[in-house]
Amino acid sequence: MTRIATLLLSLFAFSAAEAATVLITGASRGIGFEFAKRYAEQKWDVIATARSPEDDEALQALASAHSNVRLEVLDVTDHAGIDALATKLKNTPIDVLINNAGVAGGRNTQDFGAVDYSVFNDVMNINVLGPLKVTEAFLDHVAASDQKKIINISSSEGRLSQVRGSRQPFYRASKSALNMVMKNVSIHPTVQEKGVIIGLLTPGFVDTDFTAGLPKQMMIDVETSVSRSMAMIEKYDLEMSGRYFANTGEEMTW
Ligand SMILES: NC(=O)c1ccc[n+]([C@@H]2O[C@H](COP(=O)([O-])OP(=O)(O)OC[C@H]3O[C@@H](n4cnc5c(N)ncnc54)[C@H](OP(=O)(O)O)[C@@H]3O)[C@@H](O)[C@H]2O)c1
Repeated sequence: MTRIATLLLSLFAFSAAEAATVLITGASRGIGFEFAKRYAEQKWDVIATARSPEDDEALQALASAHSNVRLEVLDVTDHAGIDALATKLKNTPIDVLINNAGVAGGRNTQDFGAVDYSVFNDVMNINVLGPLKVTEAFLDHVAASDQKKIINISSSEGRLSQVRGSRQPFYRASKSALNMVMKNVSIHPTVQEKGVIIGLLTPGFVDTDFTAGLPKQMMIDVETSVSRSMAMIEKYDLEMSGRYFANTGEEMTW
């Protein structure tokens, strides 16, 4: 082999080894889609997961435009499906896992006196049990990576100390529960031994389908939100693990 060929091969091996990998849940729309797009533009290997990526035009277009984007089916309520994807990706280290998928549960379903308990179950399944199961299933993939970060998209609505006015109890309860569950995960001996960082991040009040019908004056656009979140994700280290931050950098009260 010539010296030039050897040099080219080692350069290729170096750049291949350098690409970090991110896995995102709920990448079909809103904040999750923007994460997928932005990490793809930054040349990360992106595993964009969604309930039905094969039918999703935006995700299909993203994957066509970026060879570093891989689409995978993942419904965070389907625990067998989560395990199957973890097995399929068992040799893939994941530097950053973003537990982003989430729902609010509607507005008329959550009124005290007319509570729709099946919707409450759905909200807890998607917003709390889902991220927990994904974290259990992919812990070793994250532990095998260089960055070792699991970032959970929480909400300022999850702060017990800041509840003013009665609204959206399912959603608020789910994000408080997510915070508690992930705080516990962050101090679990297995997680600490593996050196995995558990982040809790609020994205701001963001203009997505999630906030449709709410006044837009106080909202930020999804690009701004995700830029801030990506900067915070880069900063997250072991000392910040299990702590709860706004994506602007401010530490949140529980
Ligand atoms: N927007 C805000 O102001 C705001 C504020 C605080 C926190 N957050 C949090 O940020 C996260 C993303 O919100 P967003 O504003 O981007 O909302 P969004 O535009 O409504 O997107 C929600 C995403 O979650 C996915 N999803 C829902 N159920 C799922 C399931 N069972 N399995 C897998 N994916 C599922 C949706 O997929 P489908 O397309 O298949 O429905 C969609 O991709 C959520 O956790 C939310 O609580 C948002």
